[in-house]
Amino acid sequence: MAKLAIDGGKKIFEVPAAIPAWPPVYPETAEKLKEIYLSHSWSFYGPQEVLFNEKFAQYTGAGHSIMMANGTVTLEMAMKAMGIGTGDEVIVPAHTWLATGKAVVYRGATPVVVDIEPDTLCMDPAEFEAAITPKTKAVIPVHLFGSIADMDRIMEIAKKHKLKVIEDCAHAHGGVWNGKHVGTIGDVGSFSFQQSKIMASGEGGVCLTNDDSLADILGRLSHIGYQRGAKQGQKGTPPPMGLICHNYRVTDFQAAILLSQLEHLKEDTLLRDQNAEYLRKRLNAIPGIRVQARGKHATVQSYYAFVVMVDHTHLKEGITRKEVLAALQAEGIGISEGWGQPMYRQNLWTVPENQYRIESNEVAETIVMKQIMMSSLTWLMISRSDLDKYCDAFEKVMEEYYRSEQ
Ligand SMILES: Cc1ncc(COP(=O)(O)O)c(C=O)c1O
Repeated sequence: MAKLAIDGGKKIFEVPAAIPAWPPVYPETAEKLKEIYLSHSWSFYGPQEVLFNEKFAQYTGAGHSIMMANGTVTLEMAMKAMGIGTGDEVIVPAHTWLATGKAVVYRGATPVVVDIEPDTLCMDPAEFEAAITPKTKAVIPVHLFGSIADMDRIMEIAKKHKLKVIEDCAHAHGGVWNGKHVGTIGDVGSFSFQQSKIMASGEGGVCLTNDDSLADILGRLSHIGYQRGAKQGQKGTPPPMGLICHNYRVTDFQAAILLSQLEHLKEDTLLRDQNAEYLRKRLNAIPGIRVQARGKHATVQSYYAFVVMVDHTHLKEGITRKEVLAALQAEGIGISEGWGQPMYRQNLWTVPENQYRIESNEVAETIVMKQIMMSSLTWLMISRSDLDKYCDAFEKVMEEYYRSEQ
């Protein structure tokens, strides 16, 4: 048995893996940004914003694309456009970034937390259905780390109970479910372009919808009431009385960065998908290791992170996820527990207990707290030989730490 690097043995990545810097930068984009800067025209339905909305709608097959300041206000504005507010309930998965639940709280509505599936780690449709009450107005499935929630069942249940569906696609740009781009299956698809995301412009977000009237309201909500596409000083038709609109605009700098990334999205997504499948085959064969499952009908799986679960019940005495992570890191892998906790346990979740409800969380409590480990998407962009080393490190560590007999 090879001595682990953490115990003074030779590390697997003696030469560090060649990880690309993230987000990517392109020289032609730097030129474009300079051109925009020198144009004196930086915001307010600028040409780049208009073009990005057009191209992103085209790429995803959505009827409309509406850029906004970030992927939290996109969720919040989607609910506002649907008339969701005080007294309403919105169902969210137990494992997600806290923005998913907080956006509901911002609306004065109650987030109702339901459990995740043990394989995809996305919302469990059966738990979603079990949590519906007469107050439920909407559901927010999250395509977590790129795996796609079971949109067939979620849409079927939502239709039966007349609920709105907002897909949280903050981790899933480029993902396709049964031939349809994520974000175009529910009523609204919400994306984040924050620094670490698959498409990143520092900050930013976008809503997709096929509904013309929702698109009109979403445009107004994010542009202080102006009609979509209107120029500053030329407001177009007024918003409906009582619709309190915000300034959640983006700049043309962000749109230009995203336009260049959109040109690479397909190719890069397919590369990461292929590399993830390569890793999956080898890693799933290691006792005690399980890779997060693809969305059940994912035509293309995008990856925000590559997630692996360790069976904590079969580790040697005194070994937990923490020790496994430390050993993998010592071998040269960039890997962490991620958020480490379900949404409602994160220390930034400051929502008082009487303002949200947990309906089910058994799977999340175990898997998120004890099993999940993840590498960033850039680990899916390394060479084949580095991918092999990634698996070698897992094999080496699990050979030492896994306990086959109970
Ligand atoms: C699942 C999920 N939803 C929503 C958001 C919110 O996006 P933003 O940071 O752009 O507000 C994030 C951000 O990390 C996220 O991970």
